[in-house]
Amino acid sequence: MINYQGIIAKYRQHLPVTGKTPIITLNEGNTPLIPAPSLNKLSGMPGMEVFLKFEGANPTGSFKDRGMTLAISKAKEEGAKAVICASTGNTSASAAAYAARAGLKCFVILPKGAIALGKLAQAMLHGAKIIAVDGNFDQALDIVKEISEKYNVTLVNSINPYRIEGQKTGAFEIVDQLGGRCPDFHFIPVGNAGNITAYWKGYREYKRIGRISRLPRMLGWQAALSAPIVKGKPIKNPKTIATAIKIGNPASWQAAECARDESEGMIGLVTDRQILSAYRHLSQIEGVFCEPASAASVAGFIKLAAEGFFKRQPMFSSVTVCILTGHGLKDPDRAIQESSKFQTCQPKLESVLRLMGIQKKPAKRKQLA
Ligand code: F0G
Repeated sequence: MINYQGIIAKYRQHLPVTGKTPIITLNEGNTPLIPAPSLNKLSGMPGMEVFLKFEGANPTGSFKDRGMTLAISKAKEEGAKAVICASTGNTSASAAAYAARAGLKCFVILPKGAIALGKLAQAMLHGAKIIAVDGNFDQALDIVKEISEKYNVTLVNSINPYRIEGQKTGAFEIVDQLGGRCPDFHFIPVGNAGNITAYWKGYREYKRIGRISRLPRMLGWQAALSAPIVKGKPIKNPKTIATAIKIGNPASWQAAECARDESEGMIGLVTDRQILSAYRHLSQIEGVFCEPASAASVAGFIKLAAEGFFKRQPMFSSVTVCILTGHGLKDPDRAIQESSKFQTCQPKLESVLRLMGIQKKPAKRKQLA
């Protein structure tokens, strides 16, 4: 018997499962909450403690696994033979993996040319039937909604309530990892808006049963040219290098606004430049490699810190959590584009030393006594 067996086993009493539910799991969840000292400093507040919730450490490399284990388990319980999703990449990778494990057929509808390489590779190898439409994510989502209404195939996008139920365990885990403390500020990227909805539900449920006595402020971040909630209207042709959140008409729009308003939080926007700057900061200063969309949460944090937001808060000390939704390896092309080029040379000592910038003869090593 192993100790940790995924989010359904861990948080069973909070989830809609019964003894009859077949548990399809890859032991998702239990992801690290990593301190980020450089962000403490940037906040401008001496008592600030910032943590990165690294959801890239899930089995398929994103937070989607928390929702997918439940959505696929329930689909299996209900006798489904096939599942379908529209995706900017991560949902499809996760759906394909869990469907493979459950023995279900998986259909994936993707916006053509807009999926990061790692995600596409996953969905392909897991054996999903992939169809790329010459359009954007919002159009793909409309199509899969209609297919799942008319045909016998289960939708596993976050409109499926089991996805939200599974993903709310992220909030439980944060509180448990903080030893029962609720964060003061919760930073999170917003795309289709399921995840901010799920975290808010999780925090509220923990408060209802007395595990925490107050709630965090929810601070969601959209990319500047894909920011329908911030602008208050759908965006027909959303644009951003953070392809995971390139979404113009989020399915959970209203629920995200509830999370924002009930928590006295905000949903703001960050430019691609701010996203990439946070992406490089995290990898080069904190040693944490996330995908660009994930860095939107930290970009939002850095933006608010620079505006003096935290100094205006009435607290002496506070805990901030930034959700890093996906692993950096999902989008290797972007990582390479954002890095300096490497050099090549002959396989000779002198050539390597020259490129290393070492010209001097080596000092004699001391003999060991
Ligand atoms: N970060 C990553 C890495 C994502 O893949 C997504 C969504 C989000 C943030 C936004 O989360 O949609 O719940 O607001 N990806 C979906 C997909 C849309 O198809 O993989 P959200």
